[in-house]
This record gives sequence, structure tokens and C-alpha cells, in this order.
Amino acid sequence: MCGIVGYIGPRDAYPIVIEGLKRLEYRGYDSAGIALYDGTDLKVAKTKGKVSELEKCVENEITKTGNLGIGHTRWATHGVPNDVNSHPHVSNSGDLVIIHNGIIENYESLKKELINRGYTFKSDTDTEVLINLIEEVKKKEKVKLGKAVQIALNQVVGAYAIAVFDKNKPEEVVVARLGSPLAVGIGEDEFFIASDASPFIEYTKNAIYLEDEEMAIIRFHKKIKVRKIKNDAEVPANIQELQLNLEQIEKGGYEHFMLKEIHEQPKAIVDTYRGRLLRDEAIIKMAGIEDNMKKFLNANRIIIVACGTSWHAGLVAEYIFEDLARIPVEVEYASEFRYRNPVITENDVLIAISQSGETADTLAAIKMAKSKGAFVFGVCNVVGSSIARESDAGAYTHAGPEIGVASTKAFTTQITVLSLIALRLARAKGTISSSDFRRYLLEMEMIPNKIEKALESDAHIRVVSDIYKDASNFLYLGRGYNFPVALEGALKLKEISYIHAEGYPAAEMKHGPIALIDENMPIVVIATRAEHYDKVVSNIQEIKSRKGKIIGVITEGDTIVRELADHVIEVPDTIEALSPLLTTIPLQLLSYHIAVMLNKNVDQPRNLAKSVTVE
Ligand code: M6R
Repeated sequence: MCGIVGYIGPRDAYPIVIEGLKRLEYRGYDSAGIALYDGTDLKVAKTKGKVSELEKCVENEITKTGNLGIGHTRWATHGVPNDVNSHPHVSNSGDLVIIHNGIIENYESLKKELINRGYTFKSDTDTEVLINLIEEVKKKEKVKLGKAVQIALNQVVGAYAIAVFDKNKPEEVVVARLGSPLAVGIGEDEFFIASDASPFIEYTKNAIYLEDEEMAIIRFHKKIKVRKIKNDAEVPANIQELQLNLEQIEKGGYEHFMLKEIHEQPKAIVDTYRGRLLRDEAIIKMAGIEDNMKKFLNANRIIIVACGTSWHAGLVAEYIFEDLARIPVEVEYASEFRYRNPVITENDVLIAISQSGETADTLAAIKMAKSKGAFVFGVCNVVGSSIARESDAGAYTHAGPEIGVASTKAFTTQITVLSLIALRLARAKGTISSSDFRRYLLEMEMIPNKIEKALESDAHIRVVSDIYKDASNFLYLGRGYNFPVALEGALKLKEISYIHAEGYPAAEMKHGPIALIDENMPIVVIATRAEHYDKVVSNIQEIKSRKGKIIGVITEGDTIVRELADHVIEVPDTIEALSPLLTTIPLQLLSYHIAVMLNKNVDQPRNLAKSVTVE
């Protein structure tokens, strides 16, 4: 949550920081701000609202000059989103300025101490406390900024990625991280600072991703120095080459990132299985699994932890792991798991699923499971993310950057990776026959084309969306592998259109939700040809006799549900275990079109942020 950007070098900092903030807006967009050193003084502009508001504010309030600048786009934690609480925050002397992503948990006690020493505060934020703490340390200990930051951070409990500079020493920026990501782009005699590499991708391919508990002192014309926050010891700077390119983070002609990402799914899935699914040889090869095969085969059970959409992918995985590999699986919300004193043994394998790789609860769940001896396997999209690094082994999803807050291609690529793992383990355990295994491989290879086919229903889905866009509630029903898809469809609608929606196992309907059904209730039923198809048809009959409006997601050519439902959306036929990869597509499009028709901000829905780095 929150995006931070900075620049120090020979160029004008303003355009780099502003464009960088726009790319990081997915991380939070309650308010935005910038601090520039214009050659003589510190200039700060900040405002409630998006980066576009900040641009207007800068026009009216400050000059855009200067080779040193830091900027922030906020997802509020402490203090409502308003101008005063926006970052950057300046210390009492007016010399030091900070941007911060994270939470300082002990800020109240620190604030009291600082107030006792005469400090005053304008905002309600924990960040203003931190910058004044740094100032106090700097004055009291008579140390340089880097040392003051290091001492202050040792008094802090919480999570942070920060960038700080002193207007009296405008050739230096100090950055630090604990629990929130921070990358430093290394150019020729210039440095870029950002929550991820997207703000500086056109300037440099070289970056350092700070590890937790590391800080860096960045000096113009000098080399960057990386140090341990705990003991100030210097550590070698690990410069990595970035794989990201500009095209991947632009809209490419689509109206929204979400729509682009929905359409990218066929390619993303190919990228996910490329080099892993070797159909001619009839094998699945995944280094993270091969190297740790014994751990998986000897596991008592697999525990899957995740949040939101990733948790739904975990639920799909539960079906496929148990069905094919016959390994017991438990799927847990990371936020519940980490706090409920679960029984974890050394024979447990924990799979953590996360698009961003930065979700605080998932990260904490991993750390807890590791401390109890479990083997941790990460399924992440963002390369080098905290969860990827914290895991003992893992597999990337290779979906490419997902910028729309509503997860789409992350979900289907997570299911792809998890299905490959389940199939690989099933083969190793001998719980799948070689002919079935081959059938799965063949079918998996056909999924991208079948998604293309499912995407062809777009115009029809738009018509259906128009009919139901004003509904106040939606129900989503599915059985078996498609129960998690029902949950995911409901989540998509809620988060971008703000329409209340609930996902349910179809058979559970009669244990409560059926009371909600009347002629005003649209009910999306995933009714593809599957093992319990007849039972879903019975559920549809039950809805129909209560006058509910049925939107059926059906297998191409199906006539039974077509006759019963008010509307149907067809998807190609496939193996039931892989069907979530297809049935998800119309639900993504339905929520997308409804949100667009309701004039909602599809890519940046209210109150949300792409990576939830606070618990
Ligand atoms: O980055 P993660 O996969 O760990 O994120 C988990 C959830 O925050 C995320 O899936 C969220 O639910 C999405 N906005 C849903 O579209």
C-alpha cells in the first residue's frame, strides 16, 4: 500500500517522480504529494486525491525545477486522507523531508516523547512522528542523516519503506526498508527510488532490491552504500538486471488495465506453462518441485495460505491436489491462520499464493510456518518479491505485471501453476494413469485457445451487463471446481462495481440464500457439463420457480440450461478440473462491463490497493 518514488541525478526530478507516481497509483490513491529541492530551498506540494490532482496543485503552488525529488501516492492507514495527512512530511525544523510506505506501530509512544521535548505535529500520521524522531536523533547525537535514520529505525516497531533527505545536504537521499518493498534503480551517475521498478524502467535496467532491515545511502556522483539497519554493517550491493519492459506496463490501446489483463490471459497462461509442460515428452518439469520432491511426497498435508483472489485460486487447487494427487489439503485465509495458533509440523508443506508477493498477512503466515519447521513453497507473480524471497522454494506465475486492482490474469495463471504442480505430484505418486496425464497435458495446452473463444462472448456479455447493471444484489453459484469461481465472480463484481454479491456452493442455496431470491435477484450459475451437472440443473429449477433471473455459464452447445435460464454465456468444453480457467472469463467480463456502465473507476476502485502490505 502506498507508492513511493524518488530521483537524484542530473535530470529534472519532477517529470520522473510524477510519471512514476502514476505508475504506482495501483498501490494507493487517496492522496499524493511531492517534495523537490529546487537548488535553493525545499518545495512541497500535496493534496487529497489522485496524482492528477497533485499535478494541478503543483501548477498553482510550486515551481517544478530541481534535480532531487521524492513523491508519494497514499493508501491511508493513520489519519483520514486529506491534504495535511498526505506525504511528504517535513520535520519541525523544516530541514528534513520523508515519504513512507508502511505503519509505525509504536508511533503514539514516540509521539508523546517528542511532544515532551517540544515537538509539534500538524498531521495525524505515524510518518510525521518518524521524521521528527530522525531529526531529534540527528540533533541529539550530532550525527549525519544516514546514521540518524539508522538509530531512529532501531527505535521503531512496524513496517516501512522510506526515503528521506535533508535540504541542507541535497546531494544525498537515505532509503530503508522493513516489510515494504523498495527498489533503487542505478543509472549513469543518477539514482531512482521506487516501490517497484516500473517508474524507472525506461531509464535503467539495473536495480537493487533492498532486503528487509537494509538501508542505503545514495549520494549523487558517488556509489550507493547498503547497510544493515540493526548494526550499521555495510553489505554488498546486489545489482540485478530487470526483466520488465515499458510495453508491459502500458494500456496498449485498451480502455482499462483490467480489460487489457483479461485479454492477456491466453498469452499469460502460455508463458506460465512454457518450459514446464513438455507434452511431447509427456512430462512436467518444475525446478522448485523436482528439487523438493521428497518434501511433497512425504508431506502429511499441504496447507495453502493466501488472501482475496489468491485464496480463491487456493480453493481451486485444493480440489485438484486432492482429486489428482490424493494429498490432503487445507486452505486458509492467511490473516486467520497466522493468529490462530495452528498445529504445524515439519511434515507440513505450506504453499503461499500471492500475485504481489507483498501481502502482509501472507508474508507473516509464511514466517510463522517456517519458524515451526514447515517447508514453504511460494507461488508469486512479482519476481524478487518478499514472499518469493522468504519461501524455501517456489514457482513464479509469469503473468507479467498486473496493474488493475482487480486480479484477473493473476488468478488464472495461479490456477495454471497449481494444476501443473498437482499433475506433477500425481505422476510422481502414481495416482494418475499415464493416459490421463497425457490427456491433461494436451488439454492444458488447448486452454489458451479456448480462453480466446470464451472472450468472443464479450459483446453478448455487455448486453447482459446492461440488463442487470442496476441490480442491488447478485448471487453467484457453482459446485465442485466451480464453487471457488463463484466466490471469485462475486468478489470481482463487489470490488469494482460496488454491487453487493455473494458466492455460494450451489447446493447451499437452499440453506439460507434462497430466501433472498425474487424477480429482482440476478443469479449467475456456473452450470458447465461436469460431474454434478444434473444437480446444478435442479438448483436452477429451484431458482426459476422462485422467479430469480438466471444467467447461466454453460458448456458450448448445451441446450438444457439454455432452455431454463434467462441468459446463457457459453464457454468451450474442457476437463472439469481445468474448467475454472474458462468459466472465470465471462465473470470477469460481466463485472468489468457493469462497472464501466456504472461509471466506476475500474482500475482503481475506492478504498482498495493492489498490494495490501498492512495487516
Ligand atoms: O497480491 P496478492 O495476491 O497477495 O493479493 C491478495 C488480495 O489482496 C487480492 O487478490 C485482492 O483480493 C484483489 N484485489 C482481488 O481482485
